[in-house]
Order: sequence, then C-alpha cells, then structure tokens
Amino acid sequence: MNLQLAIFDLDGVIVDTAKYHYLAWMRLGDEIGIEFTKQDNERLKGVSRMRSLDILLEIGQQERTALEKEQLASKKNGWYVDYINQMDASEILPGVLPFLDELRGEGIKVALGSASKNARTILDRVGLTDYFHAIVDGNLVSKAKPDPEVFTLGASLLNIEPRHAVVFEDAQAGIEAALRANMMTIGVGDPHTLKDAHYVIPGFANFTLSDLHRVLAR
Ligand code: BG6
Ligand code: MG
Repeated sequence: MNLQLAIFDLDGVIVDTAKYHYLAWMRLGDEIGIEFTKQDNERLKGVSRMRSLDILLEIGQQERTALEKEQLASKKNGWYVDYINQMDASEILPGVLPFLDELRGEGIKVALGSASKNARTILDRVGLTDYFHAIVDGNLVSKAKPDPEVFTLGASLLNIEPRHAVVFEDAQAGIEAALRANMMTIGVGDPHTLKDAHYVIPGFANFTLSDLHRVLAR
C-alpha cells in the first residue's frame, strides 16, 4: 500500500479521554439508577453522545422523552467538560507525538476522525491542533461511526483516496467505520475487543513508522 494519509481517532487513541467519558457516564448512571459494566462501556466508545445515552438507557431498560434525553446528555457533557478543561500536554498518550512527527517528516498527511463535539477543545488543551492537516469531528458529520462518513470526509478534504489511508482506532464502532470506508485499520488496545481490525497495537510506545510500513506490507 502507498501510504498517504493517517487518520487518528482522538478519545482513547491520542489521549485517554475514554476514562473521562466513562467516569461521566458512570456518574449519570448512578444518578438515574443504571449500572453498567466495563464490557458495556465498550459499546459507548466511538459512538455519538446521544447514541451512547440510548445504549445506556437500553442497558437499564429505561425510557425517556426527547427533552429528558437532551437534559441527561447535557448533564453528562458538563461533567465531561470539567474533566477535559483540566487537561494539558502531559495527557498525550506515550509515543503519540514522536509518531506524528515521523509521519509528517515523511510527508504523510495526518487527519483527525473523531465523533466528539469536544475534539477541538481537547486538541487545544493538549496543544495538538496544529499537528493535523484536517480535523473532522462530531460537529462536521451527520452520520456517526460505524458510518464511514467521519473518515471518508477526512480523506476527501485532503484529496486522498481511501485505499491510501490508514485509520487508528480504539473502538469497535470506529474499526467498523474504517473498514466500511475501505481503509486499513489499526486497532489501538485489546486484540479481543478489536478483533476485526487488520492489526492491533497496545499503543504508540515502541511503535514507529517503520513498524507501520512493515504491517502495511504484510
Ligand atoms: C467519541 C467517544 O470519541 O466521542 C465516545 O469515543 C463519545 O465515547 C463521542 O460518546 C462523543 O463525544 P462528545 O465529546 O461529543 O460527547
Ligand atoms: Mg476512541
């Protein structure tokens, strides 16, 4: 494959905000009497805020009106935003910065493909906004992961064909989206959870551009 574009999910790939989403959903769950497991939480990763709430309500077998759902989602988001407003560059996950530098050094374009409406706030907080040639977030797309839109839009903004792109994702929904976009997929996290990815790495520590080229040449 002739690698021209690397697309990164944000939450759980570049920064560990997945833990803040989890904490905020747990707090909401506590308030409305819904318990959910770590395994249930995998289903909330990568999907939009509203879809996450629907999944949570489904787990708790609760129903709410559209207005109540708006209020619950915005409550959760308030707590989440309190967490991310405390973030700084020290929260960039190990190995991410050198890897981004290597890609850019080789002339490979770098894009963000995140479902989050808070993506720009997070990138600003950790000082990464200028690293990306294109930023596609939850404010730009109408169809959330596992729909491929978030990734195909990034590629088309940079005039790159999907077959020249690789996607780094920590969520099942994101891997599915990238596969549907006809892109190479690298899971970041647990190989069992991310079993549909072409390849899985535990994180970017000890993962270099030559490792990526080796994986893509397999
Ligand atoms: C994704 C997260 O990146 O963004 C999901 O993996 C989250 O867990 C989604 O629900 C939407 O985020 P936000 O910040 O718009 O609520
Ligand atoms: Mg993620």
